[in-house]
Amino acid sequence: MQIVSPSLLAADFGNLEREMAMINRSEADWLHLDVMDGVFVPNISFGFPVMEAVARLCQKPLDVHLMIERPEKFIPQVKALGAMMLNVHYEACVHLHRTIQEIHDAGMKAAVTLNPSSPVSLLEDMVRDVDMVLLMTVNPGFGGQQFIEHSIDRVRQLRALIDRTGSKALIEVDGGVNEETAPRLVAAGTDVLVAGSFVFGAEHPEERIRMLRHLE
Ligand code: DX5
Ligand code: ZN
Repeated sequence: MQIVSPSLLAADFGNLEREMAMINRSEADWLHLDVMDGVFVPNISFGFPVMEAVARLCQKPLDVHLMIERPEKFIPQVKALGAMMLNVHYEACVHLHRTIQEIHDAGMKAAVTLNPSSPVSLLEDMVRDVDMVLLMTVNPGFGGQQFIEHSIDRVRQLRALIDRTGSKALIEVDGGVNEETAPRLVAAGTDVLVAGSFVFGAEHPEERIRMLRHLE
């Protein structure tokens, strides 16, 4: 059984109460929150005031994905939301080891995220220190993009690195997850599926969450 983390980015922001009631009723394990700064990625999504409202409404653990420069500046604010997991980008952290330590010291689980162009081997020396690795399966910045096919190989490479090093890290994937890509991602070794438009764009989002969760 996979962990499913629906991405708020594709939700109806005019009806957050209704969307969160759906998430609470559903089999979703976590809720994925995509923060963008218009600098690290070419788009801006939402910030802390919106996430505070969501945190009040959502009963599922929050999986926060910071697509921003200098993510370490916001560790206390993410902690104050009550977040369970904080994902920071490898490409945005000069002192990644220190940042991961600071996330742990704040009492959260820590994940490192790789853009599609960053080799999995970059994590050779960090993979034992993180709770999760998030592999971007599209270029970060927008929902609804096409899945990058080479990502399947990258999940296999990461699974091999985790097994070889004895790391306990989960593998999460983000971008273009749907009924066609999800089974292949799971077969390659994925533990956590983020899905935005596939879930929130559906007529029956709860069924799609259940389907992703119970893929063989
Ligand atoms: C992309 C975000 C994703 C996004 C995924 O920058 O990190 O979490 O919401 O959207 P879909 O599932 O629609 O590709
Ligand atoms: Zn994300």
